[in-house]
Amino acid sequence: MRKITIAIDGYSSTGKSTIAKQLAKALGYIYVDTGAMYRAVTLFAMRSEFIGTESSNIEALVKLLPKINLKFVYNETVGFAEMYLNNENVEKEIRTLEVSRNVSQIATIEEVRYKLVEMQKKMGQEKGIVMDGRDIGTVVFPEAELKLFMTASAEKRATRRYKELLDKGDDVTFEEVLKNVEQRDYIDSHREFSPLKLADDAIEFDNSDMGLEEQFERILGYAQRVI
Ligand code: C5P
Repeated sequence: MRKITIAIDGYSSTGKSTIAKQLAKALGYIYVDTGAMYRAVTLFAMRSEFIGTESSNIEALVKLLPKINLKFVYNETVGFAEMYLNNENVEKEIRTLEVSRNVSQIATIEEVRYKLVEMQKKMGQEKGIVMDGRDIGTVVFPEAELKLFMTASAEKRATRRYKELLDKGDDVTFEEVLKNVEQRDYIDSHREFSPLKLADDAIEFDNSDMGLEEQFERILGYAQRVI
């Protein structure tokens, strides 16, 4: 069986990572969550107080980019790779609403995108990879054999995300989560560098009214047809 590259892009909280993980497992592929990388850089910026759109904050962060070391380390107990920022496991911390509030602004910075896209391209050199994000099918792997673009209504997405955050014990309201999802989509789709958009050759996949099992079966079917 030949190895291919699978790019999964789409709006926030469309369940991209859940499907991508399942797919990678079924095919014996590597899974890479690029959102975790943007989140880790954001956490670094928050800790250094380089948050905000002032150019001084952006310049300070860009200067420190070479000092930001990111790596994924596989955790056998949970069955997926966790994000490490300068050798510290930040998997939990990068998933908070606080980081979600700042990440899209950090992801507009050209130098940040350049650094992360270079890393992502290297990870996919051997193919046999499922990568999810916002610009995977358009910028990171424009030659990917299978590209999916996930969508769902903002309410459905916010409901899923709200449940996840409550389960983790975060103190948030549904309105806060909905607002964050809508704001991130807006910034992600309107930014200057590699905005979120449907690649010409991507399959648009609306999962508003679809359970996980049905989604997985359909998407695995698409992959099997290409492989
Ligand atoms: O995928 P996730 O929702 O965790 O991503 C967090 C944020 O990181 C997105 O809202 C987007 O601003 C940014 N991102 C990006 N490009 C990617 C992946 C994520 O700009 N490839």
